[in-house]
Order: sequence, then structure tokens, then C-alpha cells
Amino acid sequence: MIIKSADFICSNTQISKLPPPTRPEYAFIGRSNVGKSSLINMLVQKKGLAKTSQTPGKTQLINHFYVNETWYIVDLPGYGYARASKSKKADWNKFIQTYLDKRESLQCVMVLIDSRLEPQKIDLEFCSWLGEKGLPFVLVFTKADKQSAVKTDQNIAKFRKAMLAFFEEAPQHFITSSELHTGRDEILGFISNINQS
Ligand code: GTP
Ligand code: MG
Repeated sequence: MIIKSADFICSNTQISKLPPPTRPEYAFIGRSNVGKSSLINMLVQKKGLAKTSQTPGKTQLINHFYVNETWYIVDLPGYGYARASKSKKADWNKFIQTYLDKRESLQCVMVLIDSRLEPQKIDLEFCSWLGEKGLPFVLVFTKADKQSAVKTDQNIAKFRKAMLAFFEEAPQHFITSSELHTGRDEILGFISNINQS
């Protein structure tokens, strides 16, 4: 897919104020600091479109970006930010879960996982919740430039194996690096296929 345009549309804390659900939409989600905003910028080749930060918890709202005037990328706040207060975490859960569960135009949830880490309970629990809700999702392993390909593959194999506790088979996955632009063609190809179906 060639990206001709990518524009910020709106940031929301209220489901009622989201753009009308008339275009295919892909939500990017994962632990705080996993690299969601960086990946979005890499995909659309627009540095600074989604705000990135070394400090976890940067993205606090549901952010809609309109791509090629046909589909939306949605940047969501990260989960598992240890320093967020209990009430803030509860708010996050309610708000994001409502969005994911109710958004009719949501085609696929892109679950970002840090490829440097052994399987994390919070990621597995989140995938399990998506499975319970019957929401389509894929795994996107991030920051692959930060270690050897062998280590990345080992962590992915462990994650996929851990998923078999909840799923008959692990979903499709992508390996990405926002630094090296790894995985860009694969993810855009995946989205393009769904948009055309
Ligand atoms: P929140 O919005 O806070 O949940 O974070 P996020 O998941 O959007 O992460 P963000 O894209 O802001 O990136 C967090 C940090 O990781 C930044 O310092 C990025 O530069 C760095 N980073 C993200 N992706 C990559 C990558 O592929 N490779 C490397 N080396 N660093 C990355
Ligand atoms: Mg972010």
C-alpha cells in the first residue's frame, strides 16, 4: 500500500465523540512504552504524527488518524503503566474495553508486544480478554532492532506457546522495528487485504 496521506483527526476520552464508524479502523494497543506511537509514525512515514516519548504513559486518549482518506489508525493509551493510580487504571480499563467491545468499524486489534521480553502476564491476559470477546487481533512484536534475530525468535516462540493456554492456535504475528522500518510492508499489506475484502 502506498501512503498518500495521514492526518490527525481527533483525540477523545468519550466514545460518543469518536468519528462516525463508517471507515475500516485498526487499533494499536499494548503495554505503555512498547512503541505504539513510533510504529504508527513508521507505518505512515510521518515523524511526529503520533506523539512518542521515553516516559511511559504519553498517549492518554483515543487518537484517530485518517490514512489515504479511506481508513483509520487508532493510537490507544498503553496498559500496565505501573505508576498510574488505581482509579486511573480502572478508568483506562473501562474506557478502552468499551471502545474495543463496541466499535463497529474496528477491523482488527494490533497487539504490540516488546520482542525483548519473555511472555508477560499482562499481555497474555489482554489477549485472553480479546479472545473472550471474539475480537480479531494479531500480534506485533516491537523493537526487534534491540537484540539478535535469534533472541527475538525465541521470545516469539515462547509467547506463542504461552497463548496455547487460552487459544487453539496463536494468531498471526509480525516482527517490527520502527528504527529500521522492519515489518512495514507486511503490516500495510495485511491492512490493505482487509480493506479490500
Ligand atoms: P505510550 O504512549 O506511553 O504508551 O508509549 P508508546 O507505546 O506509544 O511508545 P512510544 O512509541 O512513545 O515509544 C517509547 C520509546 O521506545 C521511545 O523512546 C521510542 O523511541 C522507543 N522505540 C519505539 N519503537 C522502537 C523501535 O522499534 N526500536 C527502538 N530502538 N526504539 C523504539
Ligand atoms: Mg503512545
